[in-house]
Amino acid sequence: MELANKVVIVTGASSGIGLATAKLLAKQGAKLALVARSKDKLDALAKELPGSLAITADMTKAPQIRKMIRQAKKHFGRIDVLINNAGQGYDAPVEKTDIKTLRGIFDLDFVGPLVAMEEAIPIMRKQGNGAIVNISSGTVLMTLPNNGAYSSIKRALATLSLTAREELKKDNIVVSVVYPYMTLTDFEKNTIKNDVPEWEGEAFHPPDSAEHVAEKIVEVIKSGDAEVFAHDWMKTMGKNEKG
Ligand SMILES: NC(=O)c1ccc[n+]([C@@H]2O[C@H](COP(=O)([O-])OP(=O)(O)OC[C@H]3O[C@@H](n4cnc5c(N)ncnc54)[C@H](OP(=O)(O)O)[C@@H]3O)[C@@H](O)[C@H]2O)c1
Repeated sequence: MELANKVVIVTGASSGIGLATAKLLAKQGAKLALVARSKDKLDALAKELPGSLAITADMTKAPQIRKMIRQAKKHFGRIDVLINNAGQGYDAPVEKTDIKTLRGIFDLDFVGPLVAMEEAIPIMRKQGNGAIVNISSGTVLMTLPNNGAYSSIKRALATLSLTAREELKKDNIVVSVVYPYMTLTDFEKNTIKNDVPEWEGEAFHPPDSAEHVAEKIVEVIKSGDAEVFAHDWMKTMGKNEKG
């Protein structure tokens, strides 16, 4: 899908990957619905990106998500692309996983994207086309200690997305998954940590910029591929782990 004049919803547009993606999409002529909880940051960004609309919504609250999608449709008249990017990390050993925290992360990283899809799909079907891009994580390609809850949820999101892709082919709605590698944003700072030792390992590769991931997101909207990885070498990540 080409992006000029297309209406794109970006969740988590106030920071990091979502912010970089919104800026890149605006450069390509897309009209943006910018979604997050931080009203001031969204309002400032909307001023920077003329023609865009700031919508404050908590992506863990289904009524707010449904309202946000309807608001975007009402304002722009259509929704061409939904990018489910808002998310948060959670590091804890399996034994110490706090169930309440886990449910909060599940609401944000899995249920939120699902609700947004449920509300956007009928609109896209009626239009005759659409694209949905869900942001998973490279951690789902590995087995990382202390990352079980977050990785499981992001793996579930990938499976949900690929299932929806098959279901929606007949409606000309293309669903894709993006797997970022470690990316320099506020993600690490915002990750909730439970009983986790300071990480002393070394990254296999240097971390990416948010702009690098934004390029991958734009690439997948254009190509309609099922999955895109921040780097090709990620496709074999975890394949050599000893069983
Ligand atoms: N950075 C990495 O290393 C990395 C690696 C793999 C995958 N990812 C995934 O990439 C996506 C973007 O992360 P990032 O690195 O850009 O992190 P970030 O800088 O922490 O940004 C997270 C974004 O999500 C929004 N958000 C958080 N909770 C929200 C809520 N309840 N309702 C609405 N919006 C909410 C935040 O906005 P407000 O606080 O204003 O609401 C912010 O815009 C996430 O899904 C993350 O899991 C990141």
